[in-house]
Amino acid sequence: MRPIVIAANWKMNTTPADAGELARTIASRTRQAGVTRVICPPYVSLAAVRDALAGEEVGVGAQNVHHELAGAYTGEVSVPMLAGLATWVILGHSERRAYFAETDALIGKKLDRAVAGGLRPILCVGEVLAEREAGREAQVVDAQLRGALEGRDPATLAAAGLVIAYEPVWAIGTGKNARGADAQAMADAVRASLRALGWGSHADATPVLYGGSVTSANIEEFLAEPGVDGALIGGASLKPDEMAGIAARAGITARARGLAS
Ligand code: PGA
Repeated sequence: MRPIVIAANWKMNTTPADAGELARTIASRTRQAGVTRVICPPYVSLAAVRDALAGEEVGVGAQNVHHELAGAYTGEVSVPMLAGLATWVILGHSERRAYFAETDALIGKKLDRAVAGGLRPILCVGEVLAEREAGREAQVVDAQLRGALEGRDPATLAAAGLVIAYEPVWAIGTGKNARGADAQAMADAVRASLRALGWGSHADATPVLYGGSVTSANIEEFLAEPGVDGALIGGASLKPDEMAGIAARAGITARARGLAS
């Protein structure tokens, strides 16, 4: 059975001085049976968030990681450096793709390192507006998945708990969200791509999240879709009230899907 995952992507927000308290507040207000919670602060706040979440069942994630283990890569952070700080990692976020020129091939290398280092990856895919307007969203996402996953062992990635986040770029940070039906259609498309890559039964077992202007007001629309297993949340993830509302709705889904004991 697939988990319900609520993942907070704080992006380039918070400082080590305030991140711990924010994480603690969110954690205390999002305790819902059957809901897997993850908070992804900036690298420099990982330790503060980890310490603040001691005793809470909330995963801590990085927002990116370098594909090499060490070397002359000024300003970068590698998988071994995250040991003890993070157990999850976001890979291929559209902002990394757009502003830092990350390609599918590079994201695939990061994925290999992350999995080898025991990190649980959230792999982000999604089309830009022109691609959706041209009706090419499934094709674009298929190419992104193929570019990052082809040639890799599905069983290994499934065992690492790979999560796919479908995030249409036109919905990220814009206040424009996709419709639930769009998210469901794309979750189906993601799993079809995985099957085409030889994932077999692992395709249906892979959690697919929706991301893009998710709030407590619209989360219901996405979680009502049987193929959608949670959300990757940006702007709203910095607001405890929003996270409490999102988690409460996720708790209802977890119960409905038989995940809450
Ligand atoms: P948003 O960001 O919720 O602010 O649209 C989502 C994301 O980038 O993961």
